[in-house]
Amino acid sequence: MKIFVYPGSFDPVTRGHMDIIDRASRICDKLIIAVLVNNAKNPQFSMEERVALLRQALGERPNIEVRSFSGLLIDFMHVCGATTIIKGLRAVSDFEYELQMALLNKQMDPDIETMFMMTAIQWSYLSSSVVRELARNGAPIDPYVPDGTAEAIYAKYGKK
Ligand code: PNS
Repeated sequence: MKIFVYPGSFDPVTRGHMDIIDRASRICDKLIIAVLVNNAKNPQFSMEERVALLRQALGERPNIEVRSFSGLLIDFMHVCGATTIIKGLRAVSDFEYELQMALLNKQMDPDIETMFMMTAIQWSYLSSSVVRELARNGAPIDPYVPDGTAEAIYAKYGKK
């Protein structure tokens, strides 16, 4: 069974993430979305909120699971029996950090592969931080976040 893991902060999940999730879930038997701690970032949404938003966005999808983990990604890969890390690349600016992560993870376990997917062009400018900025200022976020999640995101900022 081919188990892939799509890790990230998902603070909060965007339509850009959903595009990667849809595409990745078609090329494996099981896709685990891993909500992890990125020590370089201070999350706005709690781990529970980020997991809940992802679950709400996904509904019932038989081969997709959402989980959280607070250690190293490579350890989570082993816990899941997963073979492949899926990452989305939007622009050259993502590359340096992603290369470092991929090489580091390869160094720690050469059997684990990192696979990059190019983000769909319409989401190439989108990020969770842009969504947070719009929501904080009460601007429309519906085009950028999965159906049914906007309300909970606004609520975080006391908007609408
Ligand atoms: O969505 P992000 O913030 O770009 O995702 C980055 C994330 C969470 C996937 C990355 O920070 C990560 O893998 N964190 C888990 C801890 C880890 O394994 N760090 C790399 C070795 S120091």
